[in-house]
Amino acid sequence: DVADDERVYQGYRDLISSLPNEKGWISESLVLYQGFWYVSTISLQGAMAVQQHFKARPTDILLTSTPKSGTTWTKALIFAIINRTNYDFTTHPLLIHNPHDCVPTLETNLYRTTPIPNPDVLPSPRLFSTHIPYSSLPESITASNCRIIHICRNPKDVLISFWFFANKLQAKLNKDHPLLPLEEAFQLFCKGASPYGPYWDQVLGYWKASLEWPERILFLKYEGLKGNPFSCLKKLAEHLGYPFSLEEEEQGVVEKILNLCSFENLSSLDVNKNPEKVGNLGVENSAFYRKGQVGDWENHLTAEMVEHIDRITEQKFHGSGLSF
Ligand code: A3P
Repeated sequence: DVADDERVYQGYRDLISSLPNEKGWISESLVLYQGFWYVSTISLQGAMAVQQHFKARPTDILLTSTPKSGTTWTKALIFAIINRTNYDFTTHPLLIHNPHDCVPTLETNLYRTTPIPNPDVLPSPRLFSTHIPYSSLPESITASNCRIIHICRNPKDVLISFWFFANKLQAKLNKDHPLLPLEEAFQLFCKGASPYGPYWDQVLGYWKASLEWPERILFLKYEGLKGNPFSCLKKLAEHLGYPFSLEEEEQGVVEKILNLCSFENLSSLDVNKNPEKVGNLGVENSAFYRKGQVGDWENHLTAEMVEHIDRITEQKFHGSGLSF
């Protein structure tokens, strides 16, 4: 019952209070758990509950990402691919719902707080997402045959996107708390202290797993989706087990999904631009849409910052086959 569940979560909070912590990007501090930094109550108690209670099904579809890598976009694409015969494109759920309401994030939506949910009641295929690093996923996921899609993005764009997002959140949460200067966000990011960071370790975990189990894990880049959306979408649909037929391609279904989920379309919908529309974390839906471009870091980072972060990326990804 609820009291039992509350005791379980209290146990997580007790454990969290004993873990190493670091200054957070918003007022809440970051906590180190299994080698990665979490925002303590927003994501870590949920992640612990996922580890202990989530039971994967082989038919599940799990989107994994580093925050600010294109999660919202990929959620929309996956949802639209899977449901393309269920809805008309003119009355599609994505026209009135934020993608985060169509594909819940395990640790911050479903398992964030009590009562412990029972997603067993959901029909297959269930769509979920998570930012939990590969090495901390529950065995129920890694040992099952469920499909995983990882979306990642150039670390410099992730840093800039996160910095804007964190400050937007902070301004909303507590007006008296000072905003995080970019120089400080940069220092924290580079030493690994970003939510679900170190960024490089989180990405590498999924990259290596995708090389080892390519039939289970598809690794995508934001830049690839932007540059080659048509072929990326086809690859994504094949990986999910919902390939486009020739007939569908001729009917322009691939383009229809890409247009439905484009930054221009989604960000102009009332549900995604009206400041009154707020998601489950109390975050405005519009906060998930900013510029939607590749390379905005050029407008914000100094030459020294670029050199420093590029050096870390080269060192960390050296020999892995992954680069930006
Ligand atoms: P910017 O801040 O660089 O604009 P996430 O969804 O993982 O939180 O990532 C958010 C980033 O993805 C933001 O990047 C946001 O603008 C961008 N984004 C959101 N929807 C998008 C879409 N449909 N197409 C491309 N980029 C999108």
